[in-house]
Amino acid sequence: VKYTILKKLEEHFPHYVSGEAISEMLGVSRTAIWKHINELRKEGYIIESSSKKGYRLQVLPDVLNVHEIKKGLETRILGREIECFESISSTNTYAKEIAQKGCKDGTVVVANCQTQGRGRLGRQWNSEPGKGIWMSVVLKPEILPQDIQIITLAAAVAVVKAIKAATGIETGIKWPNDIILDGKKLCGILTEMICEMERINCLILGIGINVNHDMSDFPPDLSDKAISLKMYIDQKNNADKSIENMPVRRSEIIKNVLNELEILYREINNGNVTKIANEWKKYSVTIGSRVKVVIKEIEYTGTAIDITDDGKLVVRCDDGVTREILSGEISVRGILGYV
Ligand code: BTN
Repeated sequence: VKYTILKKLEEHFPHYVSGEAISEMLGVSRTAIWKHINELRKEGYIIESSSKKGYRLQVLPDVLNVHEIKKGLETRILGREIECFESISSTNTYAKEIAQKGCKDGTVVVANCQTQGRGRLGRQWNSEPGKGIWMSVVLKPEILPQDIQIITLAAAVAVVKAIKAATGIETGIKWPNDIILDGKKLCGILTEMICEMERINCLILGIGINVNHDMSDFPPDLSDKAISLKMYIDQKNNADKSIENMPVRRSEIIKNVLNELEILYREINNGNVTKIANEWKKYSVTIGSRVKVVIKEIEYTGTAIDITDDGKLVVRCDDGVTREILSGEISVRGILGYV
């Protein structure tokens, strides 16, 4: 009932809905409605009440819960099971645990805060409470372990499209999987595998997006490297200080990521990887730029010219040789058991 009331308020946003109308629509007493409204307020929804006009949502808030994510979700696989935590050590670690217990393909884990968020190469991932998106998706793709990179590429494409759809902001992809805004890192992706006998048993796709962070929410050493959607919007509106920016709604972005990713996931399972590589190229900020790569401890400089269907970066090195580079992350193979 609580979320049906919320749905009514959202449908009428920013206008009032009378207590009587809600009561008639849902067949509950006015006192019961009042109790549910108070519960919603405790969850963070700002609801105004007026004895004459009824109730109204003051803003569409950035509240993260399963109800908000599922609203408008168009998927069949991704997000059919969603677990949302107020606080967790790491959504990837938890997703790995439930994957080992046999959770469904497409199960999603989301948290409002991570106490031990993990980045690539053993780094920490800053997870300021309530500010960002920390989500993991359990996938069981029909691909070989060596082709796992295509999933990370697909995830990067899905995030770029989701951010554009939810906010209108255009971002780019830095190979292999960082999402970049204004030359700074907005989002990181950590893909981990559970492999058995040369086949992928399960894959955990961890996505971290900086959403409503202010500069002060990042440690000083990241201040010139990290950005959030809010920081970008604030910069753009800097000229007009009178504008009170609404928070970016994380649930909107998460839902869009799942909607976009499911389309690409289906393509992958149908063996259509060229399409994903082509989409990735469209958003790439790496192709055409100068890069430095280290292969077997030898450093090469060159120009990134392409990406292969299985996600390798093609670099025309300055010594005249064209080399295909595999992302360092591929070595995460066999993270549970097989080393
Ligand atoms: C990177 O280093 O670029 C990857 C960062 C990935 C962070 C996300 S947040 C959700 C998921 N849970 C984790 O502990 N890490 C990933």
